[in-house]
Amino acid sequence: MLPRIIADTPLNPVIEELLAGKVEILPWVVALDGSREPIDGLYTYGHPQVDGEMLDRLPGLKVISNYGVGVDHIRLADAAARGIPVGNTPGILDGATADMGFTLLLAAGRRLVEGDRYARGGEFTRYDPGYMLGREIHGSTLGIIGMGRIGRQVAKRARAFDMNVVYHNRRRDEQAEALYSARYLSFIDLLTTADYVMLCCPLSEETRGLIGREQLALMKRTAILINIARGPVVNTAALTEALASQQIYAAGLDVTDPEPLPRDHPLLKLNNVTIAPHLGSATEQTRRQMAEISVENLLLGLAGEPLKHQVLS
Ligand code: DGY
Repeated sequence: MLPRIIADTPLNPVIEELLAGKVEILPWVVALDGSREPIDGLYTYGHPQVDGEMLDRLPGLKVISNYGVGVDHIRLADAAARGIPVGNTPGILDGATADMGFTLLLAAGRRLVEGDRYARGGEFTRYDPGYMLGREIHGSTLGIIGMGRIGRQVAKRARAFDMNVVYHNRRRDEQAEALYSARYLSFIDLLTTADYVMLCCPLSEETRGLIGREQLALMKRTAILINIARGPVVNTAALTEALASQQIYAAGLDVTDPEPLPRDHPLLKLNNVTIAPHLGSATEQTRRQMAEISVENLLLGLAGEPLKHQVLS
């Protein structure tokens, strides 16, 4: 008999193919309702919530494998308390996610999406050197919050764009300082100094609501906020106000809170925000590798073997 797993289907075809003939896949509703039959594994694809109550409905679970690196939707302490390893896919998506951060930085600084709308619209009748001036990228200062693997990749790109790099992190990273001429600043100094503030930190109890009214008020009026972390790192109401009143210049968001935003949310009506639908790691190459690693973690856990990448709780 094949091991039985629960997944928040539909999964992408690459994962389906990798799992074919190796497991029986049951829909997520089984995790919500409980199952009479034993369940061997959980596969989390689109960030469904997993907590102790759910795990208690699934006794005998051997592994939770997550498609992606961020595991803030899984209560790690609850899994650890029940001896269930949690796998994720670190290391492979740093480049793609940093590319996305930079895409948003460039687009927000140079008003690309707004320009695209204008170029397609009826108002564009002649070139005018006075319209749609943006903010310089080269020579400006990027403040990275969270100098982890993704933060470092962002720093590398910033140097290639001739930007100055400052960062804030729980610990100083002397290697990144040497590699990218990055200067460590306190959180407040970073907010007051940076022309671009990019959030690259995981979502945790410490980082939830990290950027709210007070922090936005410390940023320069010309500053641009980029979020490639998780939506709840930023207070959405405070950001909407800061953008609407031009307290900061612009924002580029790959993630929002909630995600998606309600279709009539005031943030969606503002011109000085560029929003992507959580595309950080969304390239064919990276998503394939994420599929391969997450499936490998799942199958190893089902076989009672150590996972290739196990999240430490
Ligand atoms: C991640 O890896 O955490 C991305 O957000 C995709 O899940």
